[in-house]
Amino acid sequence: MNPSQLQHIKLIARANAHIEKIKNDVEEDPLRPIYHLMPAANWMNDPNGPIFYKGNYHIFFQHNPYDSKWGNISWGHAVSKDLIYWEHRPIALTPNPESYDKDGIFSGCCIVHENIPTIIYTGVYPEVQCIAHSFDNLNSWVKYKENPVISVPPLKKFVGFRDPYIWKEENVWYMLIGSGIKGKGGAAFLYKSNDLIKWRYLHLLCTGFGKTWECPNFFPIDDKYILIVSPLDDVQYSIGKYEDQKFLAGNWNILDHGGCKNFYAPNTLMDEKERRILWGWISGGGTKGFQWNGYLTLPRILSLFEDNTLSIRPLPELKKLRGKHIQFKRFKQTPSSSNILKGIKGDCLEILLKMEKGSTGSFSFMVRCSADGKEGTSIVFNSESATVTVGDKKCNVEILQDVKTLILHIFLDKSVMEVFINNRI
Ligand code: FRU
Repeated sequence: MNPSQLQHIKLIARANAHIEKIKNDVEEDPLRPIYHLMPAANWMNDPNGPIFYKGNYHIFFQHNPYDSKWGNISWGHAVSKDLIYWEHRPIALTPNPESYDKDGIFSGCCIVHENIPTIIYTGVYPEVQCIAHSFDNLNSWVKYKENPVISVPPLKKFVGFRDPYIWKEENVWYMLIGSGIKGKGGAAFLYKSNDLIKWRYLHLLCTGFGKTWECPNFFPIDDKYILIVSPLDDVQYSIGKYEDQKFLAGNWNILDHGGCKNFYAPNTLMDEKERRILWGWISGGGTKGFQWNGYLTLPRILSLFEDNTLSIRPLPELKKLRGKHIQFKRFKQTPSSSNILKGIKGDCLEILLKMEKGSTGSFSFMVRCSADGKEGTSIVFNSESATVTVGDKKCNVEILQDVKTLILHIFLDKSVMEVFINNRI
């Protein structure tokens, strides 16, 4: 073992010990979600390298083991059999002082090459691409001794050079790196390699809006391809064609209407059942003084409707989390009706609401209400403007114009709420 590997092991042990020491305290925070995935304590941002390996799902994430603010960026690690219940694993990677990744182990992915689980990440600063291997079923990671494997961007006028995303085509590895071209817009560089060590730059897979694209994700669904990018603003996706190793983008659309603070840097995985599953990062902490900030969205399945538009729905296995159940069948609410939901309480709820559009007007209800009902988060459906408004956020759901049934699938978990509208938004 070389000195930097030894140093890495010691640094990881120190970081894990720190988390162990404080983790019980954060559990006391009444605002801390209980069924969203997050580190045992302190900061997290992007989900990284989701992978299914030998019967387990693994997910990594950008993590600061020492603080509830961004910094000391390491890779946290969790494992699950069913994508619902997760267990924390020791931190996978942490920066080695005075090395190519001294300022952080930035986002990347995880694949298996010649039977060896391999992480590809961006070391900073400057931004360089690096790899690490696991020889013990993803429990511990050894940085490749010849890192970085790519140390200089292929073009001069670039903005950012990070967040590798990898896939295989006919036994060859392809990799995207998120970037931007000055004066041109966000971009994804395309590389290829046989061994993950020697990389050849091919060309830009695609360029477009914004200044820079972080965390590109690129994958087929049916006979289409989808590119997802995080442009320092709302995450966008495009459904297009992949020809001659170039992506011919269709329209760009917002992937989640909660804003980029509530949904950013998503990453995806093809699961055992061949479903494309996505997680995004939700930023934010809880009660002041509790050392945690950031969590992942619930797993969402991406697929295409018949008209080739994107469907986004919660993983059906989330049903496992259900407890006591209350159901109201076919009821009518008018302005003078009494409140059918009166007396129903909870800060961890799944709400499934199917509603036939009335002739005019709007329908609303509130969650997280104060005792006098004056404060809370409202969910309002306005049938004239065809909009759903959650809290003070307005989601312009044009799709509802010609849809008669509104289906809201809502997951409330203490201080976070996810709202799925007609399996679309
Ligand atoms: C996106 C991002 C990535 C980077 C990581 C650093 O949120 O800025 O581009 O790799 O976070 O934590």
